[in-house]
Amino acid sequence: MKVIHLETVASTNDYIGRFLPARENVIVCADRQTHGRGTKGRAFLSQTGGVYLSALIFYEEFPASRAFEVMAHAAVAVCRAAERFGVDAEIKWPNDVFAGGKKLSGILIENAVSDGKLDHSVVGIGLNVENDVSALGGIATSLSLEAKKPVAAAAAREELIAQFCAPSNFGEYLSRIRFLSRIVRVTENGREYDALARRVLPDGRLEIEENGSVRALSSAEIRIKL
Ligand code: BTN
Repeated sequence: MKVIHLETVASTNDYIGRFLPARENVIVCADRQTHGRGTKGRAFLSQTGGVYLSALIFYEEFPASRAFEVMAHAAVAVCRAAERFGVDAEIKWPNDVFAGGKKLSGILIENAVSDGKLDHSVVGIGLNVENDVSALGGIATSLSLEAKKPVAAAAAREELIAQFCAPSNFGEYLSRIRFLSRIVRVTENGREYDALARRVLPDGRLEIEENGSVRALSSAEIRIKL
């Protein structure tokens, strides 16, 4: 796939929009972002030393009902890349990658759907590598911290691109979620409760069981704490 490397950009997810008219798959990565975007409208701190990349992927005949596969694939690619540096990574549903109990990577996917089909996705991945995560209040970690040795952002970027370009399957996504069959803390509309995390459905909803009642909920409806 064509890869474009920039030093500084506001957001690779926004920059990549200029390649839409060509309808050609492309990856844009940057050394730093000045306005990195996270999920739910949050900012994503993107200082030098991390990997910030977006992939623009076009599809033929891809039902929108299978959109979660795009997310699953990206999360698996991050886990595999982390493993190549000796870091044991797990997926925190739906799309964060954790290591040592802290957030290692975040994924922001922006899909374009028409007539019930996915036309294209912008898959944005931010991965902490050798950037200083101390400003993030102890909730984040980096490849270098977890590997207990310096990992170069350029090496991590190459590995992440290679893994992103390799195929994956939903089974691998599921096998990298460690909290299934365990009790998790759920927040739903301000209510906090414990529930059994039963499984993730192919559409991305998490099936939970609370006091014998089973429901499947999307990541827009609930947040979970491991
Ligand atoms: C999150 O954890 O909330 C998702 C973070 C996604 C960050 C990546 S970095 C590359 C791409 N460009 C952005 O502005 N955001 C994504």
